[in-house]
Amino acid sequence: MTTPIVVAIDGPAASGKGTLSQRVAQAFGFAHLDTGVLYRAVGLSVLRAGGDPADTAAAAQAALALTPDHPILREVELRTDEAAQAASKVAAVPEVRAALLDFQRRFTQHPPGGAPGSVLDGRDIGTVVCPDASAKLFVTASLEVRAERRLKELRTRGIPAIPSDVLEDMKARDARDSQRAVAPLRPAVDAFVLDTSALSADEVFDQAVAYIGSKTGLR
Ligand code: DC
Repeated sequence: MTTPIVVAIDGPAASGKGTLSQRVAQAFGFAHLDTGVLYRAVGLSVLRAGGDPADTAAAAQAALALTPDHPILREVELRTDEAAQAASKVAAVPEVRAALLDFQRRFTQHPPGGAPGSVLDGRDIGTVVCPDASAKLFVTASLEVRAERRLKELRTRGIPAIPSDVLEDMKARDARDSQRAVAPLRPAVDAFVLDTSALSADEVFDQAVAYIGSKTGLR
């Protein structure tokens, strides 16, 4: 059996990596794993149990209980800002990261549906989860552009939001994600850095496909 191809796509919140990852996976016929959903599910589980997401024992227990068929992974509540903030807190717990590392690596070794490869998007895919990935992208955009995108997304979903609050929440999450001791958000040394601040979704997609093609020989 040939080793499945892995495409790593990392970046901060609202950088456009989610949309890009879905399109890339579809274009190459790969399975897609949004790893932020795993951290959100752990954060939400802890909140629902009445616990504190920063509490190591509670967070680790929730992470170990997360299996690929767990119903919480399909809940719409995962998209709320409350879940995002809780996710960012449980993400700083080393035991949580260790448990989710196994989950993510199993996905790349056996992509669902027998796909020939997978696309994982997150914060530490190229640096920690899949350091040997065939192609690594680091998708970013200025804080202001990302806050604007998040505001638009929230309003589209009918969720009232105050611009200054969205900006401050994003700043707090950026700080927590990039300053934590374990697996902080940063580009892998061999990543292709794509600043999407002034690019359309189609331009981002075209550049990503050209880069992945050059690294994998596909397309
Ligand atoms: O990508 P997202 O906004 O859904 O991620 C939610 C939080 O989960 C994010 O603030 C940090 C954490 N996370 C992480 O630490 N490592 C990942 N690979 C993915 C997400």
